[in-house]
Amino acid sequence: MPARYDRANIKAWNELTKITRTEKNMDRAVIFAPLMEYYSDEQWLAWIDRLANEDYVVIDEFLPEPLYDAVRKFFLEHLEMEDFSRAGIGSSANRIIATSVRGDYVYWLDRKRDLPVQPFFNLSDELIVKLNRYCFLSLSGAEFHLAHYPAGSFYHRHLDQFRERSNRMISVIIYLNENWTKDDAGELRMYCTNGEERLVEPVANRCVIFRSDVLEHEVLLTHASRYSLTGWLLYQPSSLYHFSDHLI
Ligand code: OGA
Ligand code: MN
Repeated sequence: MPARYDRANIKAWNELTKITRTEKNMDRAVIFAPLMEYYSDEQWLAWIDRLANEDYVVIDEFLPEPLYDAVRKFFLEHLEMEDFSRAGIGSSANRIIATSVRGDYVYWLDRKRDLPVQPFFNLSDELIVKLNRYCFLSLSGAEFHLAHYPAGSFYHRHLDQFRERSNRMISVIIYLNENWTKDDAGELRMYCTNGEERLVEPVANRCVIFRSDVLEHEVLLTHASRYSLTGWLLYQPSSLYHFSDHLI
């Protein structure tokens, strides 16, 4: 299901990302952001309908091109600067690093600090507003990280909710793998509650949104470096929790 963003908004949209990217007129960018919608209500409804019926939705070409480019550039810059660290499992005190379960490296995003990806957070705000409106959810925050799976890594079958902290309601993943081929592997395998399995190829600008509480999934062994922007929409924002909860 490819994204169809509103053509009328695209020009204003590009202006916004330009403003944000140059870090000038930040006040203007902040004032502009909530006034513009990335996608029409009709478009959001079609996606949310699928999410509600099947527990997941796959959306191709999700980010408008300038935003996709900005996110990928940001990813590569931080990879180059070796800003990624080993991902763990569990939250806060129960956090352990278990290479036998997951082998990815992550860089947690901060919407105030990481200006080039700020428009992405605005888009996630829009998703939260629509989900609250159409699904009667009470989402009030989000946490996102960049994830790098080096060749030879994987993430075993799991749910995105922890036993001791279950405020992750909706998982959102956007892949950044250009020229991905079947030989690269590293597909996302989803285990649907009706017993069906769905394999998703991690191709560039494909977005997968799914219910964190019911949809088990795994990342199959990847043969090439695998990049994504991954995060969760939260029932309560993680700022209500101890800071180290961010560091899963
Ligand atoms: C995760 C995860 C899936 C993917 O980070 O929890 O399951 O396809 N990622 O990257
Ligand atoms: Mn997961």
